[in-house]
Amino acid sequence: MLNDLHSIKDLAGDEIEKSDSLRQVQELRIKYLGKKGIITGRIKSLGAVSPEDRRNYGQLLNEVKTYIEDLLCRSEKTFKAAELNRTLQTQRIDVTLPGYFIPPGHLHPTTQVLDEIVDVFTSLGFHVEEGPEVELDFYNFEALNMPKDHPARDMQDTFYITDDVVLRTHTSPVQVRIMKNNTPPLRVIAPGKVYRCDADVTHIPMFHQLEGFMVDKHITMSDLKGVLEVFIHKVFGTDTKLRFRPSFFPFTEPSAEIDISCVICRGAGCSVCKNTGWLEILGAGMINPRVFEMAGYDPEQYTGFAFGMGIERVAMLKYGIDDIRLFYENDKRFLEQF
Ligand code: DAH
Repeated sequence: MLNDLHSIKDLAGDEIEKSDSLRQVQELRIKYLGKKGIITGRIKSLGAVSPEDRRNYGQLLNEVKTYIEDLLCRSEKTFKAAELNRTLQTQRIDVTLPGYFIPPGHLHPTTQVLDEIVDVFTSLGFHVEEGPEVELDFYNFEALNMPKDHPARDMQDTFYITDDVVLRTHTSPVQVRIMKNNTPPLRVIAPGKVYRCDADVTHIPMFHQLEGFMVDKHITMSDLKGVLEVFIHKVFGTDTKLRFRPSFFPFTEPSAEIDISCVICRGAGCSVCKNTGWLEILGAGMINPRVFEMAGYDPEQYTGFAFGMGIERVAMLKYGIDDIRLFYENDKRFLEQF
């Protein structure tokens, strides 16, 4: 009987030693110590052993059980350590490897040009104001001397929200909003988005404008000329010439369109300036007394100038871009050039 236990011990020792994986060791654990295992079976049938043999037999059984248990544990430990070592080897993170390059983004060309223009005017003492993009018909048209049936309304293809509410077609309504809530002297620029129902190489339904105006006693057209000259020279270079051409806007009197000498051919004539040597860049004029009345100012007391320009247009002239739609197609090959 004791021999039986000795041979179990030898066999188990042999098998555990020969096993070459954690799984095999675990199978041996089940074989010997599991619920239906060999050792467990012997423990269960201990009661059937005759009382005189039971003591010795039990003691040896216990020793064999501890022996197998120890061997199994040691072997499991060895295999687990080996496995851990293997994962450490294969899944090692090398912190000295260079990281992935994430290319830095940059500001959109419209934003870059807008920021540059805003910088020029703030350096001249203008401060920045904003108005709503969803605007009352009153501010967008009426207060700018364009009553409901005024033909000048046709110049701008308006998105109407209701009969009295529009998407602003220009930044000029900010003039009246600011004047209504402030007293002169005023030196303001108002950049922002504007909307027109129009689309081709030079028109898109949403674009940016920058409005500027100055109101005080004794403001004249020469103040307008001086300010615009500084602006043009800063943005396009000091050798750029300006030309004031008579024009019409309902909210200015007199009105002018301002051209600059062609930035491509320097005035010699090319396809960009259609051989005229000049490029139209903005609209301007002396604020119409009717607009002052709408804002509650006494036109006998105050005068002022105003101007408005398209930001994308300035960017197109500055960088020689011939299609305004490129700005908002989000083609990286285009955007990366700025
Ligand atoms: N609001 C005009 C437009 O969108 C631009 C403009 C012209 C603004 C003359 C002005 C101005 O302030 O005096 O076409």
